[in-house]
Amino acid sequence: MKNINVALLGFGTVGSGVAEAIRKNSRIMEDSIGCHFTISHVLVRHPEKYRDMDLLQGIHLTSSFDDIIADSSIDIIIEVMGGIHPAKEYIFEALNHHINVVSANKDLVALFGPEIMHTAMENHVNFSCEASVGGGIPILRPLHDSLAANEIESIVGIVNGTTNFILSNMDDSGVSYGDALRVAQKKGYAEADPTNDVAGYDAARKLAILASIGFHANVTFDDVLVEGIEKISQNDVQYASEMGYTIKLLAVAIRQENGIALNVYPAFVPRSHPLASVKGSYNAIYVTGNIVDDVMFYGKGAGSLPTASAVMGDVISTAKHILNHSTGTGMMLTETKRIPFYSSL
Ligand code: NAP
Ligand code: HSE
Repeated sequence: MKNINVALLGFGTVGSGVAEAIRKNSRIMEDSIGCHFTISHVLVRHPEKYRDMDLLQGIHLTSSFDDIIADSSIDIIIEVMGGIHPAKEYIFEALNHHINVVSANKDLVALFGPEIMHTAMENHVNFSCEASVGGGIPILRPLHDSLAANEIESIVGIVNGTTNFILSNMDDSGVSYGDALRVAQKKGYAEADPTNDVAGYDAARKLAILASIGFHANVTFDDVLVEGIEKISQNDVQYASEMGYTIKLLAVAIRQENGIALNVYPAFVPRSHPLASVKGSYNAIYVTGNIVDDVMFYGKGAGSLPTASAVMGDVISTAKHILNHSTGTGMMLTETKRIPFYSSL
């Protein structure tokens, strides 16, 4: 059976989830595509923190990316370290060395997605990033492939688990904004700097990626008008409830005559709408196409194994290309064009 060697850049929540997923489901993956996955290298900043971990036994643990790029046996690099630098440089270096890359890094893809895809195409390798939006929810590939026959009219998402957890708890349990945020941080949903979550920046990055794929365009974070939930009080939540609404932080992209309106903002959602029932840290993306009508994608928007599921989906898809000796460009942003955007409510 063919072996596919992967290297992990990062071994935190998602990286360790990938290792666990491979260990747990290696038989299923082998049966599914007829190859075996081996993690040959893991890159972290502080190897000493990781040395005794059971999941890392037999794996080359390093803090030097040169060790990885120099090893010609590596088929796929999985970037799950996060941040812009040095993740960006490592990804470009890998692609320029004709190595396929899978990434979960929404910050990076929201800013440099088209450039990364272009480099992947030039080097005839794959770049894919399903886990960058919606954690374990399959959304980017379905948007790109399964819904390809549609003109997408709108994408409306609850794509940030932290803010959804806060707002759901304020609504269901009457807790204050501050208390709910503290619990979200404790549960590990929030980013290292929770401003990214509560100010709507994380949702805006994810919207940029969704809109780039859904509207075949080059959308970046800067195109999105953003308002967060920091000013939402318990009074607002109660008022919404009395009127038959619940407050959700929505990421909205709507096709309009002269462009795409791109906004992230806290909205009153009628309790009868499917998005109103998305609670806690769950995410959902509601897509309307001119043929399919409305479809909703729902699931865990974060977490070790759910996110690893999306990462491994990309890895398996890339492995299929490798086994078929075909080159592709992953799934997205292959035909980017600049179309007029405006951000307005
Ligand atoms: P994390 O738990 O903070 O882990 C980060 C890992 O990357 C650590 O092992 C860290 O090693 C390593 N790392 C960071 N900077 C490095 C550098 N400069 N050089 C070498 N290693 C470095 O992060 P995470 O939650 O797994 O998130 C990883 C990525 O997945 C991010 O892009 C995130 O946005 C995305 N994502 C996360 C989730 C989620 O649920 N957590 C969901 C979807 C997408 P040290 O410990 O040695 O510093
Ligand atoms: N902080 C992010 C969230 C993690 O709350 O959704 C997953 O991207």
